Amino acid sequence: SSVTIPPPACMLRPLEAPLRYLFGPGPSNVPPRILAVGAKPIIGHLHPEMYEIMNDIKRGIQYAFQTENNMTISMSGSGHAAMECAVFNTVEPGESVLVAVNGIWGERVAEIAERMGANVHRMVKTPGGYFSNKEIEQAVEKHKPVLFFLTHGESSAGLCHPVDGIGDICRKHNCLFLVDTVASLGAAPIFMDKQNIDILYTGSQKALNAPPGTAPISFNERACHKMFNRKTKPVSYLFDMTHLSNYWGCDGKPARLYHHTGPVSGFFALRESLAILAERVKEHFTTLWLPSVTTIAIPDGYEWRELLAYIMKHHQMEMTGGLGPSIGMVMRIGLMGYNCEKTNADMALNALADALKNCKKSKA
Ligand code: GLV
Repeated sequence: SSVTIPPPACMLRPLEAPLRYLFGPGPSNVPPRILAVGAKPIIGHLHPEMYEIMNDIKRGIQYAFQTENNMTISMSGSGHAAMECAVFNTVEPGESVLVAVNGIWGERVAEIAERMGANVHRMVKTPGGYFSNKEIEQAVEKHKPVLFFLTHGESSAGLCHPVDGIGDICRKHNCLFLVDTVASLGAAPIFMDKQNIDILYTGSQKALNAPPGTAPISFNERACHKMFNRKTKPVSYLFDMTHLSNYWGCDGKPARLYHHTGPVSGFFALRESLAILAERVKEHFTTLWLPSVTTIAIPDGYEWRELLAYIMKHHQMEMTGGLGPSIGMVMRIGLMGYNCEKTNADMALNALADALKNCKKSKA
């Protein structure tokens, strides 16, 4: 028999990936050094050299997170994979989870926890609002959660949330403290051990400047105790830390067994991005603004979609609109890692000024 579906014409054309200034909230431009390691020959995901690379990644993440946690790995997947891994492994159906919602990411975690049958309580603020430690403690006392979630870098709202003292509150009330640093790690300081964060994760494609598709995550002893003493199995096989901890050589067993096929090139690139981070001295910021993603109010009378389309068309530059609850409120400019240069900031401002000059003001 022969094929009846002809080869699609699009597949007979070469792939097009234009060079763009990725000045949105991610992915960011990937520097040539990281792109180059991504093009190295593939090795087997269970070869000893790959285990070495994974061990290096673990050390690199421990440095980036400022933690000595043994249970430190990368997910094969984006930041969402780490988000689901954290929730699926530490929470059992029926348990109480408290989520701080001040933008899209809290909303997302709340939905994930609800889908796996947790009893979810939301503390809600308008996008960019922040929660005092007192408010958090009151909510923890009221809802007695096993897990409290907070976004450190709320990319939809441009807020970098303080975390000091919250880990202590969670400890006092026997609750795990989970922090999302997808949009902030490498751009704003975070100290997992010192700040008593029980579970921390990030993504590869923002300030780390690696391609999308890998996501570092770390669990401390308290989190391990909870997740390895559960009565039910986590709802996901792929994200089950019993298997992932073995695959990453974190469970103390002599053999690392096949669980899934990790993204070999993605791990090469992640290792390189963590190496670049290790070569840099971290700067310290004190502001509440998120240094990696700046949210700006939509200039009066302009249609934000038109401004963004103009900037893409005439400057080959990505900026984005709001996300989730901040849609229609803000435009977002991200200058992350490799992109975080004064010349790029000037270029972004020039593009914006040009758009404001040439886009029509709407009647409203
Ligand atoms: C997420 O990827 C964002 O747009 O902030």
